[in-house]
Amino acid sequence: MDHFWWDQGEWRGTAFDAIENVMDPFHTNELHHGFIRRRDRRLPVTLTVENFDRGIEMTIVQSEPDKGIMSRMLEGDRTRSRTRYDAPAGVQALWESDRGLTLCVTAFFTPVTKYSFRPFACFTTPRRLLPASVKKWGLKAFLLPVVRQDRSALAAQADVVASFGTTRYAQGPGDLLGNRVHKLYRGGTLPPGITDRVAVEL
Ligand SMILES: [Fe+2]
Repeated sequence: MDHFWWDQGEWRGTAFDAIENVMDPFHTNELHHGFIRRRDRRLPVTLTVENFDRGIEMTIVQSEPDKGIMSRMLEGDRTRSRTRYDAPAGVQALWESDRGLTLCVTAFFTPVTKYSFRPFACFTTPRRLLPASVKKWGLKAFLLPVVRQDRSALAAQADVVASFGTTRYAQGPGDLLGNRVHKLYRGGTLPPGITDRVAVEL
């Protein structure tokens, strides 16, 4: 495998909101419209959620890559993606095709102050024809606009929370994980097992 680490410096926002953002696949259609997924051309997928004692994993099975430009240019095909949260600060996302692993991102979200955190991520790809340095700069170039969108959304969210002084989270119909991520983040545990398997459009 080829690996590279990407230190993103300090972001405005909370580590918890950043983790919750990564664990929510539905934000990609809206916030990253055109880059990752599209809000106007959704794909039928099967979405499975599994609890672990101190973690939670979401698996998305689909028959073709996402409709955004990143997936269309970087992925040949796609059968499965998995996003796993290991409390309190680790998230690992894997994209897989019939040939095996396409990309794995292992990220750590370290709280710095009440309204800032530091994301630090390792990018892993299977060693094939492209040199590691080309993949590194290619991935960074493609991801930069997506990273900027998340960064500004999390900063805006932090500004709202700071102006109210507290959080009062609401759950919509797409929030399959409900408050489970929050419970894990605060030190709680979950009863292990598969809790959801649903057909949705993403
Ligand atoms: Fe995002």
